[in-house]
Amino acid sequence: MRLHRNLVGSFVFVCLSVLGNAQQPSLKDAYNGCFLVGAALNPAQFTGQDAEETAIVKAQFNTISPENVLEWGPIHPQPHTYNFGLADQYVEFGQQNHMFIVGHTLIWHNQTPKWVFQDEKGNPVSRKVLLKRMREHIKTVVGRYKGRINAWDVVNEVVDEDGTLRQTPWLKIIGPDYIEKAFEYAHKADPKAQLNYNDYNLENEAKRKGALELVRKLKTKGVHITGVGLQDHFSLDFATADQINATIEELGKLGMKVMITELDVDVLPSPFQDPTADVSVKVASNPKYNPYASGLPEAVQQQITNRWADLFRIYSSHCGVVTRVTLWGVSDKDSWKNDWPIRGRTNYPLLFDRNAQPKPALNAVIEAAPKKPS
Ligand code: G3I
Repeated sequence: MRLHRNLVGSFVFVCLSVLGNAQQPSLKDAYNGCFLVGAALNPAQFTGQDAEETAIVKAQFNTISPENVLEWGPIHPQPHTYNFGLADQYVEFGQQNHMFIVGHTLIWHNQTPKWVFQDEKGNPVSRKVLLKRMREHIKTVVGRYKGRINAWDVVNEVVDEDGTLRQTPWLKIIGPDYIEKAFEYAHKADPKAQLNYNDYNLENEAKRKGALELVRKLKTKGVHITGVGLQDHFSLDFATADQINATIEELGKLGMKVMITELDVDVLPSPFQDPTADVSVKVASNPKYNPYASGLPEAVQQQITNRWADLFRIYSSHCGVVTRVTLWGVSDKDSWKNDWPIRGRTNYPLLFDRNAQPKPALNAVIEAAPKKPS
C-alpha cells in the first residue's frame, strides 16, 4: 500500500514538473530573433545516457558544441587512426534536434598528441611535414561532417596575454602563416561552413589588440573568416561591462560576427592574480579555495543571479553582431570548473545546479531577454 502511494506520489510529481517546465519559456525561445543559445555537451548528454540533462538540452538550447570529442587527441590519436564514433553521435544528436552544430576545435596547442609535431626519432618535423599533417587532419575531419557541422573553431587560443602570437609548436615549426593555412584547408573542405577564431581574455586590452591585428591581417589576405569566438570564462567581477562592450564593438567594426562560445561564471576564490583559462596550469588543493563545498550562501546565489542577467543584457544589446551564446556545460556537476585549476572543488558556474534543477539565474536570464512586440 505504501509502495502504491509512493508510486502515485512520484507520478504526480513528474506530471507537475513537466507541466511546470512546459509553462516556463526556454532560453532559446526567450532570445529567438537575437541570437542562438547553446551548451557544450559531453557524451552522456548527447547519447541520452544522462536522460535528465539530455532533456534539458532539447528543451533549452538550439545550438550545441562538443566539450571534447572533436579535439585532435580524442578523434585522431595516432597517425592512421581516427575515432569518429562519439563525434558521429554528437552530430546525429544535433541533426535530429534541428540544432546549429559547432565543431570544436581543429588547431589547438592543447589536446594535440605529441606525434603530430615529431618524427619517428622524436625530433621536430619540418614545416612541410607539419603542414601536410594539418591539411590531412582538417580535410578528413571537416570533410566527414561537410554540410552537417555548421561552424568550426578553426584555431583556438592562438594569441597570448601580451597580444603576440602564442608560442606553440604550430607557430614555431610552421611560422605565423599556420593560421591562414588552417582557414584555407577548412574552407576547401567545406566552403559553406562558418569559420572562426576562438580565444579567451580578449576583454583584456593587450590581448584584444593582438586579436584585432590578427583579424585585420587575415582579412587583408582574403582569408575566409566568419567571426571570433569569445570564450567568456568569467567570474563575478571579470570581465566588466565596459570590457565586454568594447570587445564586441571593436570586433563588429571589423565585420566580424561575435560568438560567445564557452560562457561560465566562476564563484570560487581564484589562486591567480590575473584571470586565465589556460588548462595546462594546475594548482594544489587547499580548503581556502573551496569555501562552498556544502552549499552556496543565499547572498552569493543572488550575486550569481544578477551577474548572469547582466551578462545576457549586455550580449543582447549587440543583437546582430553577437549571433550565438553558448554555455560551457549544462549543469554545475559536469563543469570543468570543478577540477580546474584545482581538482575536486565544488563550483557553481552554470544555470542548472548539481541535481540538474534550474537555478534562480535561469529565470533571471530568461526575464532579461529583450521584450518582443506583442
Ligand atoms: O580522455 C580521458 C578519459 O579517457 C579519462 O577517463 C578521463 C578521466 O579523468 O580523462 C579524460 O580526459 C579528460 C577530458 O577532459 C575528458 O573528460 C582530460 O584529462 C581533461 O584534461 C579534459 O579537459 C577538458 C579541457 O578542455 C582539455 O581538453 C575539459 O573537459 C574541457 O571543458 C576543456 O575545454 C576547454 C576548451 O576546449 C577550450 N577553452 C578552454 C576550455 C576550458 O579549459
